[in-house]
Formats: sequence, C-alpha cells, structure tokens
Amino acid sequence: MSARHFLSLMDCTPQELSGLIRRAIELKDLRRRGVLFEPLKNRVLGMIFEKASTRTRLSFEAGMIQLGGQAIFLSPRDTQLGRGEPIGDSAIVMSSMLDAVMIRTYAHSTLTEFAAHSRVPVINGLSDDLHPCQLLADMQTFVEQRGSIQGKTVAWIGDGNNMCNSYIEAALQFDFQLRVACPQGYEPNAELLEAAGERVQIVREPLAAVAGAHLVSTDVWTSMGQEEEAAERLKLFAPYQVNRALLDAADPSVIFLHCLPAHRGEEISMDLLDDPRSQAWEQAENRLHAQKALLEFLVEPAYHHA
Ligand code: CP
Ligand code: NVA
Repeated sequence: MSARHFLSLMDCTPQELSGLIRRAIELKDLRRRGVLFEPLKNRVLGMIFEKASTRTRLSFEAGMIQLGGQAIFLSPRDTQLGRGEPIGDSAIVMSSMLDAVMIRTYAHSTLTEFAAHSRVPVINGLSDDLHPCQLLADMQTFVEQRGSIQGKTVAWIGDGNNMCNSYIEAALQFDFQLRVACPQGYEPNAELLEAAGERVQIVREPLAAVAGAHLVSTDVWTSMGQEEEAAERLKLFAPYQVNRALLDAADPSVIFLHCLPAHRGEEISMDLLDDPRSQAWEQAENRLHAQKALLEFLVEPAYHHA
C-alpha cells in the first residue's frame, strides 16, 4: 500500500513537521480573514471513534467541511467493527470509499493493522500509546507565542501516558530537551525513552523538572480505559499537581499547555487555566488549524489509487 500515514510524529521528517506548523499558522490566518479555501472538495474523511472525544471529532469534522470536503463519524457500536469484522477487512472496504481515515482507539496495533490494509492515509486520533495530532497543535501554539522551540526546555508533569510519549517523539523531531516528572511505575514507554537517550530525563520532583522550563504541560491522571485505577491514581499523583507556584519556578517566559479535558483540582489547580501563562484555549483551537494542514498534506488533491 502506497498511502502515507500519520500514526506517530516519526512518520514525518522534522522538515515536514515544521512545514505543517507553518501551514497551520497560514490556514489560521486565512480563516481569520474569511478567505474561502477548498482544496479537498469532494474528499471524504472517515472517523472511527472507539473512545469519547470533543476536540478531535469537532476539529476533524469542521476542518474537512472548511476545506470543502466532508467527514463521516463511525462508532463501533453502529458498524460491523463492533461485531467483530476483522480490522484488515474493514480497512480494505472503508479505504475503497474514503479519501482518508482517522481512528481513535485503544491498542496502537489497531492503527498499524488498519494502515497495513488501507489504500488511503490513516491518521492516529489517539491510541493508548500516542497522540500525535495533539502535538501538532501544541507545537503550533508554542511557535505562535514564543517562536521556535528548538533548543528550549519542556517539562512534562504527571503520568507517562500517550501524551507524554508523543512529547518524547516531539523532543526528537523538534529538537528540544524534555524533563518528565512522574511517580515510580508511571514512566513513559521504555523503548521511546531508550531511543531518546539524553534528550529526555526522568526526574521525580516536579520542581526539578520545571527549573528553567520554557513550556510546562500535563494531562489527566486517569486516561480513557484506566477508569478502574482512578482512586489509586488520585492518591499517587497528588504531589504532581501543576499550579501557579510551580510555574513561578520555571523560566519567566514559560507557557502552560493542557490537551484538555482538564480536571481542575487534580492535575491542575482550580485557577490555572485563568493564569495568563496558560495557552490551553488557543491550543485547543489550534487542533483545527494544525489538522487542516495535516489533511491538506495527506489527502491527494486528485482522486487516484496506486
Ligand atoms: N485533547 C483531545 O484530544 O480532546 P478530545 O478527547 O476532546 O478529542
Ligand atoms: N491521556 C488522555 C488524553 C485525552 C485527550 C487519554 O488518553 O484519555
């Protein structure tokens, strides 16, 4: 299969990723100026959601419409995927009718298996392992607010989850230093850590992680699919809350990002999203612009299958 997929940030070169961020900023400006831009007329994106979503669904759906195309929401409850039709078979059929497929799933292998049988680009809309689309929006937000992230220091506080794993890939691809402060036993993916070498440091103390940091980010302590661990996680992660005092210990130019949804009073203090250093709302909007750049990049301007 010759289609280009976006399952991880490593599926693009650093140059391509920088190009996507630049394009996202241009597309944002076009939209602000009310310029109609419809390069994906008649193109259709299928969106398979095995987990809940607000931002990812809305940004892909609105993005396709704004680019002149359409998006179809597919829930496993209403498709044969939920009744056991093999992923590979589903990929062959769906990709014969669609121009791209976005999948939000549990096991990352669902994405790789679908992609292996798909004639059209497959986009990772979040798996248990990675959330690369979110990182496009995060990098766009940093570039807009502070310029290039190359050589900067980023602190990830809390769970070594899918978002944290994608931050490790971003550290490699966008060339920044990453410090992860997480409790013992909640480290990010070991293979990714090994591949990242000195680019990523694991520390236990949030204060040690944020010292001199230009970007601080965190995420929920209990990700989708881990609900039965919630009570235990709440206790374990209590010392990892990001609050104004923690940001005060970072570089004076620090910005704070949160992929959302946020749990105020847990991973962030009640007031953190109101702090001027938080760019979480801009970051959420940037999902739209960054993914429009991604769709434009991946979806063939003219219909053809290899
Ligand atoms: N950040 C993010 O992916 O949000 P949703 O779960 O609402 O899509
Ligand atoms: N880590 C969170 C991210 C949600 C956007 C989860 O997987 O539920």
